Amino acid sequence: MKSILVIGGTGFVGSAIVRELARRPASADFQFTLPTRRRERAKHLLVLPTANVIAADVHDAATLARLMAGQDAVISLVGILKGGEGEPYGPGFARAHVELPRKIAAAAKAAGVRRVLHISALKAAADAPSGYLRSKAAGEAVLRDAGLDLTIFRPSVIFGPGDSFLTLFAKLARIAPLFPLAGADARFQPVWVEDVAAAVADSLADGRSIGAAYDLCGPRQYSLRELVAYAAAVSGHPRFIIGLPAAVAWWQAWAMEFIPNGPMTRDNIRSMRVASVCDSNCTLPFGRVATALEVVAPTYLRN
Ligand SMILES: NC(=O)c1ccc[n+]([C@@H]2O[C@H](COP(=O)([O-])OP(=O)(O)OC[C@H]3O[C@@H](n4cnc5c(N)ncnc54)[C@H](OP(=O)(O)O)[C@@H]3O)[C@@H](O)[C@H]2O)c1
Repeated sequence: MKSILVIGGTGFVGSAIVRELARRPASADFQFTLPTRRRERAKHLLVLPTANVIAADVHDAATLARLMAGQDAVISLVGILKGGEGEPYGPGFARAHVELPRKIAAAAKAAGVRRVLHISALKAAADAPSGYLRSKAAGEAVLRDAGLDLTIFRPSVIFGPGDSFLTLFAKLARIAPLFPLAGADARFQPVWVEDVAAAVADSLADGRSIGAAYDLCGPRQYSLRELVAYAAAVSGHPRFIIGLPAAVAWWQAWAMEFIPNGPMTRDNIRSMRVASVCDSNCTLPFGRVATALEVVAPTYLRN
């Protein structure tokens, strides 16, 4: 039996990873500890007999030390898209993407937990145009410098039931007769959440992944305009999409930052300046073949 601490495991990707590990015979008896800020939001995981969902503040060093004790591995998934403005990144990004990995590394070392799997983002780089991508790169560096048995995953945008991407476009298409779109020409190579989960589960089981960083992409590249048009059409609400000029998109994003849970920030616009796509010869780890968006997306967008 193994004990796995999954930090940020209650979200879209973490839940898929825990489900994937729980259904594999080789890891069926793993015990998962899933700290969350709001336990009631993790109802979908409470039904898993091997998942222990607990309310805990992972930013608190003493709490993290308690959570880490006796674990065999830690999967680190905390990530946010809105972290405020600042150089080299906003304060929210600093806390969630850099300081938390630093605390995770310290707690893991103190508890003798060597194996760490960390979810970053495709095109994370110290000189990236957005605070999101720069802070993701800094988080990777902090973990790399800690000298742990680390594997890093860098997915492009992730799709699947419950995503906040194609599902959001489909929802907006239902209510909006026209679709004014910021970053319409931005490029993505979406990867299925189950493929991401399988890559993480494969890596946990195979020591050859130690020291590796895997870019995770699906089989095809798309513009944002193509993806929005696709989600709208498949959900039964085909829409005319108007690409917003860069300056208009910028001011719209600025205005949306004043709306709680607004859909876009200036930093999101900056992230879209780099194509979130893999090299043409990129494959998933261990020879796994990526699943096409067109195979999966209709199964949940049609509803
Ligand atoms: N989804 C994508 O398309 C995509 C693409 C590339 C990379 N990624 C990366 O993959 C990881 C998982 O993404 P996701 O889509 O699963 O995100 P998600 O559904 O929003 O889940 C985020 C998780 O992080 C926790 N969390 C968020 N903010 C936190 C904070 N300030 N302090 C402590 N915990 C916090 C949440 O826990 P609570 O239960 O406490 O809310 C939740 O478990 C992230 O690192 C993200 O950057 C995602």
